[in-house]
This record gives sequence, structure tokens and C-alpha cells, in this order.
Amino acid sequence: MSRLDSFIRRALAQRDCLNDAARRTARLEGPVIELGLGNGRTYDHLRRLLPGREIFVFERRVAAHPDCVPDDGHLILGDFRATIPGAMARLGAPAALLHGDVGSGDAVKSAALAAWLGPAIRPLLAPGAVVVFDQALKDSGLDRLEPPASVDAERYFMYRAGE
Ligand SMILES: C[S@@+](CC[C@H](N)C(=O)[O-])C[C@H]1O[C@@H](n2cnc3c(N)ncnc32)[C@H](O)[C@@H]1O
Repeated sequence: MSRLDSFIRRALAQRDCLNDAARRTARLEGPVIELGLGNGRTYDHLRRLLPGREIFVFERRVAAHPDCVPDDGHLILGDFRATIPGAMARLGAPAALLHGDVGSGDAVKSAALAAWLGPAIRPLLAPGAVVVFDQALKDSGLDRLEPPASVDAERYFMYRAGE
């Protein structure tokens, strides 16, 4: 598969999983968390999809399209390992939906980060919250959900937080 095909497949998986997660969490209260602003594409999709929700974005260093940068109140700057542990104070309420797109070209580092993030995000989630992630997560409080049929298995991952 060419890198272009791979990029397209990834973007389609992100869009379809986020749309599915928005439907699944329509009746759940709470903000949205975006881990990894990057270019701001998925953040922009989320804010159009969920105009009534607060979206808190965690990012080490902003390098997004200028139109896709959250206001200071919704941008939590720094390494996840420093910002996530105390984040409930910023959120005000547990999140209904969390999207993480945090992988880099380094598969070992990405896997190590995902292993840390699984348990670390758990306290930020409302019971029944939906997690959409670019990496497989392991935490006893997260149950795997089937992604939409359009998304290849192991391409993008969905979970529900336990009650
Ligand atoms: C693949 S990009 C996200 C792309 C984004 N979803 C989009 O649609 O444009 C991953 C982002 O995660 C951020 N990131 C990765 N590891 C991080 C960490 N440990 N702490 C904070 N940010 C991190 C990177 O700086 C990068 O901007």
C-alpha cells in the first residue's frame, strides 16, 4: 500500500470512528478530550461534529493550522505525563468522549506511551464514555468496542469506559 493510500485509510478511519463515538455518546454529559492536536484536523472535525461540547486539547507544542488552535482555557500544554495526572481540575467534569492520536514514526516509543496512557486516562472518563484511539490500549476499565464496519481491524481502536 502506498503512503498516500495509508494516509487516506487512516483519515477515513478517524472520521468514521469519531462520527460513531459522537452518536454513541449523544446522551452522555461531559466534555470531550483530544490528545494530540497535531495539525488540528481531528480537533476541527470534533468541534464541528459536537458544537455544544467543550473540547479540551492536550498537546506538547502547538504546530496546528492557525484556525484550529483552541483558546487558552481549552488548551493544556505540556507532555501528557505531566498534564494528564492533574487534569480533572481543568476539565471540571469527567469526559464523555476521548480521542487520542498520539503515535509517532517510532513504534517502540508509541507503544510505550500507549501503555502509560491506558490507565492514566481512566480517571478522566465518565462511566460509559467512549475512547477512540490510534493505538491499542490496555486497562481493565476499558472494554473494546467494534469500530464501524468501514474501519479495518487494528487500524483504529474504540473502547467504552466501565460503569
Ligand atoms: C499524529 S499528531 C495528531 C494529529 C491530529 N489528530 C490531527 O488530525 O492533525 C500527534 C500529536 O501528539 C503530540 N504528542 C505526542 N506525544 C505527546 C506527549 N507525550 N505529550 C504531549 N503531546 C504529545 C505531538 O506533538 C503531535 O502533535
